[in-house]
Amino acid sequence: MSFILSIKRFLFVVLLATPLVAFADEITPEQQFEIGKQKALVCVTCHGVDGISATETYPNLQGQKQQYLIAALKAYKQNQRIDGLAILMQGYAKHLSDQDMRDLAYYFSHVKTENHDQ
Ligand code: HEC
Repeated sequence: MSFILSIKRFLFVVLLATPLVAFADEITPEQQFEIGKQKALVCVTCHGVDGISATETYPNLQGQKQQYLIAALKAYKQNQRIDGLAILMQGYAKHLSDQDMRDLAYYFSHVKTENHDQ
């Protein structure tokens, strides 16, 4: 009887703990933004810290749709975008994982310009 009880107690604890573990794995939108921002350090020389590029021939990324950004990065990685300045992007995109692309797309689609004088 006490064996059954301890099994019940064990199951109870496991069931109770499971949602907590799942919750601990989830990241907040703020954390997701910060992860993307860190990964974007290499991109900002061309696309700007806030995703607004300082060069006429380099596109702005700020506020762009996430799915579009991911699709564009995949296309560079797979050498499907090859026109014009695409060669500049291919070298960067080929090192990105799917997770990197999601993080970067999250960052650039959510970033805002903080100082409007710049
Ligand atoms: C050396 C400068 C440079 C760097 C560094 C760079 N890019 Fe780019 N990026 C460009 C240029 C130039 C284009 C336009 C290429 C073309 O004509 O297809 C572009 C295009 C893009 C596009 C497509 C935009 C659109 O509207 O279709 C995305 C998305 C992008 N870059 C993301 C990134 C990310 C993410 C990083 C960092 C991992 C990065 N870029 C690093 C120069 C750069």
